[in-house]
Amino acid sequence: MNAKLENISACVFDAYGTLFDVNAAAAHCADDLGDKWQPLADIWRTKQLQYTWLRSLMKRHVDFWQLTTDALDYALDTVGVSDPALRQKLLDLYLQLDAYVEVKDVLTALKDAGLKTAILSNGSPDMLTSAVQNAGLDKLLDVSLSVEDVGIYKPDPSVYQMALDHFSITPQEVSFQSSNAWDAAGAATFGFRVVWVNRFDQAPERLPDQPDFEVKTLSELPGILGITA
Ligand code: 2OP
Repeated sequence: MNAKLENISACVFDAYGTLFDVNAAAAHCADDLGDKWQPLADIWRTKQLQYTWLRSLMKRHVDFWQLTTDALDYALDTVGVSDPALRQKLLDLYLQLDAYVEVKDVLTALKDAGLKTAILSNGSPDMLTSAVQNAGLDKLLDVSLSVEDVGIYKPDPSVYQMALDHFSITPQEVSFQSSNAWDAAGAATFGFRVVWVNRFDQAPERLPDQPDFEVKTLSELPGILGITA
């Protein structure tokens, strides 16, 4: 199969929304939340990301676990749920989000092909360790890189630079995968080759740079890299 992306030595992945299902925590509490579970999941995620951008602009960094907790409190307040036990259950579940169904097979194919693999995420080190181990991905990822090492959130360029520093490679040797179109745009602006995993059928962002490829799931990634299944 002809590779559409050539000279790639590292496949770098966003975590939340790309490898791990950010809706899974609320979905697992559907019995407790009823028809509020999806609005809660949506508000929780939207506010979590808003807080990363606002705190980066305000230069008032806290780690992603604190942001995730603050965003959950905002979301619970918004949907009118006040239940400390349910709040704790949602937070516990967020540390063990399900990986999307194709992830393990795709990472296995990439490793079998000799590629380096990494997570590059807003997540705190403890959050990423928990998610990776719970999903059984620890042997399929060379490293999990957290923004805590640079103290500012995506899409600040210093975050993407961490992947180059860790592997001692150039931006064009990196294939970066994210379901978050704004993250994909940030990575493209930084100089990575970018695959946007448009899991939620969203419109393209009106931002400076566009991804090289748009796919529906990560299952298409080995083909793009010229790896036959
Ligand atoms: C991540 O950095 C953007 O939340 C997403 O994993």
